[in-house]
Amino acid sequence: MKVLGVLLSPHRHGNSAALLEAFLQGAAAAGAETDLVDFPKLDVGGCRACNACKETRKCILDDDMQPLYEKVADADIIAQASPVYFDQVTAQAKTFLDRLYCFIGLNQERWMPEGKKGAYFLDWEAGPGMSYGKDLLDWWKGRFEYYFRIETAYTLGVDSTGKNPARQRKDLLATIREAGEKLARGEALA
Ligand SMILES: Cc1cc2nc3c(=O)[nH]c(=O)nc-3n(C[C@H](O)[C@H](O)[C@H](O)COP(=O)(O)O)c2cc1C
Repeated sequence: MKVLGVLLSPHRHGNSAALLEAFLQGAAAAGAETDLVDFPKLDVGGCRACNACKETRKCILDDDMQPLYEKVADADIIAQASPVYFDQVTAQAKTFLDRLYCFIGLNQERWMPEGKKGAYFLDWEAGPGMSYGKDLLDWWKGRFEYYFRIETAYTLGVDSTGKNPARQRKDLLATIREAGEKLARGEALA
């Protein structure tokens, strides 16, 4: 079982990282091979829409996405964590998504290897009244379900990170750890 965590916040030790780390710790406790990729630190450019990948199934951009493609293709579970920036996921989260374009054919063929599961962590500063948790998480996981056939296994929206940083929320982190452990064991979440 390989669990890939993609951190999509520029803060390596911030809120999104705390959520993702807890998930990966749980998965590791279940014996999974885990890997946290600090995406904002990588050299990854935007998709150029050259469509070369529609012939070759490979992206022609020679950057840090190349080794990440292998990790994505190999992973059984792909967990992503992003803060909300101006009511959306971060630009890095969108860049990661856009660069997966090479897993889709010109006639909408699905080239992502099947059988993967996805986990999505979103966090933001505003209070619980905001609708990010539902709308944005639905949009985000929906892209991975529809275009890459990645079955959603877990989503979590965490509000109020200014007043209540994720790293200090021990109960929340314990719940996420438990989810990571269960999913890595192949169990369904209640
Ligand atoms: C450029 C920028 C835009 C932001 N936009 C929002 C927003 O629209 N709504 C919100 O509640 N918080 C917003 N925030 C706050 C972050 O979502 C929040 O602090 C988040 O938990 C930071 O996660 P991190 O510690 O992983 O970087 C924004 C922060 C930045 C830097």
